This record gives sequence, C-alpha cells and structure tokens, in this order.
Amino acid sequence: MTIQMPTALRAATIAVSLSALAAFAASAFATTAAPVKGNAEAGATKAATCMACHGPNGNGSINPEWPALAGQGSGYIAEQVAAVKDGKRAVAQMMPIVQGLSAQDMADIGVYFAKQTPVGREADATNWAAGEKLYRNGDPTRAIPACMSCHGPAAKGNPAANYPALRAQHAVYTLKQLNDYAADARYTKDAKGKSQAPANAVMMQTISSRLTADERRSLASYIQGMR
Ligand code: HEC
Ligand code: HEC
Repeated sequence: MTIQMPTALRAATIAVSLSALAAFAASAFATTAAPVKGNAEAGATKAATCMACHGPNGNGSINPEWPALAGQGSGYIAEQVAAVKDGKRAVAQMMPIVQGLSAQDMADIGVYFAKQTPVGREADATNWAAGEKLYRNGDPTRAIPACMSCHGPAAKGNPAANYPALRAQHAVYTLKQLNDYAADARYTKDAKGKSQAPANAVMMQTISSRLTADERRSLASYIQGMR
C-alpha cells in the first residue's frame, strides 16, 4: 500500500499533464488549420470526375477559367470543395459534381492533387513587370502588403495556414478571383444578405479592393509565369 500510493499519485500527475498537453495540441491543431489526413491513392480514383475541367493530374485544361489544382495545398482544396458543396462559394457547374463527396473524399482528393507537379506556364505578355514589383514589395503608401509575405517568394502558398499556392495558375482565373474578392462576389450571401466569405477571404477582399484594375491584370500575368 505504502508503495502503491505514490505510484498511483505519480500516475495521476502524469495523466493530468498528458491531458493538458493533449488540450494544448488540440487547440494548436484547431488554430493552425493542419492539412487534412487523406489518402492519395484513394484520391486518384475519386478525382477522375474532376479532370474533365481541371485537366490531366489537375494541371488545368484549355479553358483558362477552370483553375489548375496540381500542387495546391490539400487543406485549401478540401476547404474550397466543401464551400462549393455547401453553396458558400458560387461555382454552379461544379456544384452537382461535389454533392456526393464526404469529408474523407475531399481530404483524399486534396492530398492527391497536392502531390501532382504543376506544369510551368509563361507569364502573359501584358505588363507582368509591374505585377512582379507589387508581388514582391506591395505598396506601403496604400497599405497593400507584399503578396509574397503570405503566398511565398515562389507562390507555393503556406499549406499549414491554408494560404493557397498561386504559381502557374491561368491568368484569366486569377484575375477573376481578384475581381471577385474586390466585389465580394467569390462567396455567396446568406438568406439575410450577409456575405459568407470566411475570415481568410476577408483579408483578400481588403487587399484586392486596394488594387487598380490594371494592377490586378499585371499581377495575374506575372503569377501565371511563376514556378
Ligand atoms: C464542370 C467543370 C468542373 C468540374 C467537373 C469540377 N470543377 Fe472544380 N471548379 C470549376 C470552376 C469553373 C472553378 C472556378 C470557379 C471560380 O471562378 O471561382 C472551380 C474551382 C475549384 C476549386 C477552387 C480552386 C482554387 O484555386 O480556389 C477546387 C478546389 C475545385 N474546383 C475542385 C474540384 C474537384 C475536387 C472536382 C471533382 C470532384 C471538381 N472541382 C470538378 C469547374 C469544375
Ligand atoms: C495576409 C496574407 C495574404 C496576403 C498579403 C495576400 N494574400 Fe492572397 N490569399 C490569402 C488567403 C488566406 C487566401 C485564401 C482566401 C479564401 O479562402 O478565399 C488568398 C487567396 C488569393 C487568391 C485566390 C487563389 C485561388 O486559387 O483561388 C489570389 C489570386 C490571391 N490570393 C492573390 C494575392 C495577391 C495578388 C496578393 C498581393 C497583392 C495577395 N494575394 C496577398 C492571403 C493573402
């Protein structure tokens, strides 16, 4: 008994510190939006229906309005597919295709596309140099942060924070997103007319609304050629 008591006490102490650690880990998990756990092999099969629009291995099709997904962060992909499924991000032609997907399906598909290598594209000729300058430096006089600070020097994104990769994306698609953010049109409104844009998107709405139409075009041109 005299030996068992301290042992039991010690065990209790360890149990307490472990549960404190678990709580800490759980909160860290929740706030950093860790990539979803998916299976790339299962995802390859489930992604077959996506290729018609998003291209072989998700590398984009001939329609530049349909985004490439190859090399995009898995967590960001799953999050965006869920937003389309729930009617929060307006993509009419994709909505029926994703209705049957479970959270596990979205995770598997996300991991599959994240593992694909993006093909390089060339910057379109329209004034990409101005885009490069803004991408790298922003414009402090107008409170425009450098895009690089979140999307990375090579536009590979920040997967842990669900900041999307932008590199090698069709300029037409990128320009549409920048315009949609500025007009709060990427996400739908709820029944009360309130925008359903998530917090991450609100950041982009603020940033994009400070850019001129020409600047958005230059940025989209430059980003298309990044690799
Ligand atoms: C009929 C064509 C079509 C099909 C099929 C389709 N999509 Fe899409 N998808 C689109 C279009 C168009 C957009 C961009 C909409 C916009 O401009 O905002 C999009 C956007 C996306 C995005 C957001 C990309 C980004 O960078 O924000 C993801 C992720 C995505 N689709 C995943 C999928 C997955 C997964 C499937 C298969 C289960 C799929 N799509 C099937 C047309 C399609
Ligand atoms: C503070 C961090 C931050 C900065 C700075 C930032 N972005 Fe973003 N960007 C994000 C996040 C987060 C998202 C995803 C938003 C969402 O969920 O809709 C995003 C989304 C985007 C998208 C949509 C990508 C897709 O695949 O649909 C584009 C395009 C984009 N940003 C371009 C830019 C450009 C150009 C700049 C510089 C002028 C910039 N961003 C600066 C965080 C940032």
